[in-house]
Amino acid sequence: MQGAILALDQGTTSTRAILFRPPGLRPLAVAQEEFPQHYPAPGWVEHDAEDLWRTALSTLRGALAKAGLAASDVAALGIANQRETVVIWDRATGRPIHNAIVWQDRRTARRCADLRHEGHGEAVSASTGLLIDPYFSATKIAWLLDEVEGARAAAEAGHLAFGTVDSFLLWRLTGGRVHATDATNAARTLLYDIRAGRWDPAMLALFRVPAALLPEVRDCAAEFGHTEPSLLGGAIPIRGIAGDQQAATIGQACFAPGMVKATYGTGCFTLLNTGAQPVRSRNRLLTTIAYQLGGRRTYALEGAIFVAGAAVQWLRDGLGLIRAAEESGTLAARADPARRLYMVPAFVGLGAPHWDAEARGAIFGLTRDSGPADFARAALESVGYQTRDLLEAMHADWAMAGEIPVLRVDGGLAASDWAMRFLADLLDAPVDRPAVRETTALGAAYLAGLQSGLCPEPEGFAAGWQLERRFEPGMPPKAREAAYAGWRDAVRRTLSSPR
Ligand code: G3P
Repeated sequence: MQGAILALDQGTTSTRAILFRPPGLRPLAVAQEEFPQHYPAPGWVEHDAEDLWRTALSTLRGALAKAGLAASDVAALGIANQRETVVIWDRATGRPIHNAIVWQDRRTARRCADLRHEGHGEAVSASTGLLIDPYFSATKIAWLLDEVEGARAAAEAGHLAFGTVDSFLLWRLTGGRVHATDATNAARTLLYDIRAGRWDPAMLALFRVPAALLPEVRDCAAEFGHTEPSLLGGAIPIRGIAGDQQAATIGQACFAPGMVKATYGTGCFTLLNTGAQPVRSRNRLLTTIAYQLGGRRTYALEGAIFVAGAAVQWLRDGLGLIRAAEESGTLAARADPARRLYMVPAFVGLGAPHWDAEARGAIFGLTRDSGPADFARAALESVGYQTRDLLEAMHADWAMAGEIPVLRVDGGLAASDWAMRFLADLLDAPVDRPAVRETTALGAAYLAGLQSGLCPEPEGFAAGWQLERRFEPGMPPKAREAAYAGWRDAVRRTLSSPR
């Protein structure tokens, strides 16, 4: 077979490799592996970078084997990755100096609070589009340089390399020949000026990160080198890289300003394409690079909520109300519509637009006859309410957002018809679920296919994007706004300090 595209999706809990057939990018074979999470202290989350590498290699080999293809059948490889997670390795040996510090890790919370109190927030946001928060890479890099013996001196002498996960895997895949990343991953470090498109010396100084550590930043569709022939049985060109949420935005073909996608995994990441101009948020959303193609940057407003699918996992694993996540919709459908529970799933605080790390989950409206069905309904509804919170903030930030015409959804929870119907009702907008739900891998494959000349330009790819199902809104306006007002009240009562 000529010219298959291989996509690697290195996520927070598992690594997947998917082979696609261009130009339509129909999936041919999938291989997936989970890997251990490490929690060395409360609030700390680490990955062994060798696990990321091992599972990348074995899933890439696995997908090829399942499809019965050889490296010579593959035109190009694209990479999508968990963002912000930090790896620092020795340039001479390729060995990481420490476990990777994962995006969820909160160990630098104190340092971030100090920087905020010193008044650096405005300058950081003006350059990077981000907030000073441990979520992003910069303070994690500084932590490693300060805590690993000899690391800071070695970094200053140019002996060490930093990368987000894409960059580390690229280095390994190319046999140590290429130290690069793409603009979307660079935009998550707190070190990158997203308007000028370069590492920002003022941010490097503020966060105490030596420039010698940094990868070169390229377009999302670009020449990133070739895989070392011994790894996959031949040299495959690597031609696409994007952070996973940006890759999903591309896979959802959200190429026009005003288009928005939500990916429902453990949490939910919503990105709104704002076109060629970065939009400053006044509602604590992030401004980020959606993609960079042909040297031109397209920007997005992004909102992250921490608990989406995790609320359903809690029904299953914490409360034992369901045996499998798929049962949640059937159970929710049995709830008495006349009763309404509100569950604010602030298990690990609240993300955008509240950013309240101290808030903890709460349930409101319990009565003597509240039961499992009400809990299931409240959990699924919490996903819809939180998504509306993000979209309301996006509207408030960007007048051009106007009425969001449609929300494109993907990720595990998007499989729940019940949850998607409620989402459409609550947003009073259609919710579109695509035929290919592997949108992250699809986006990475598209970038590699575009660079290889095997996939059409964005407009052509968007024209071929296929809908599996549209959920139309159907809730009467009065009922909708009353339900949402109840949620706002529940959130207000959940915040750690009333606003
Ligand atoms: O910002 C973190 C995000 O990129 C993680 O995505 O899908 O690996 O949970 P995921």
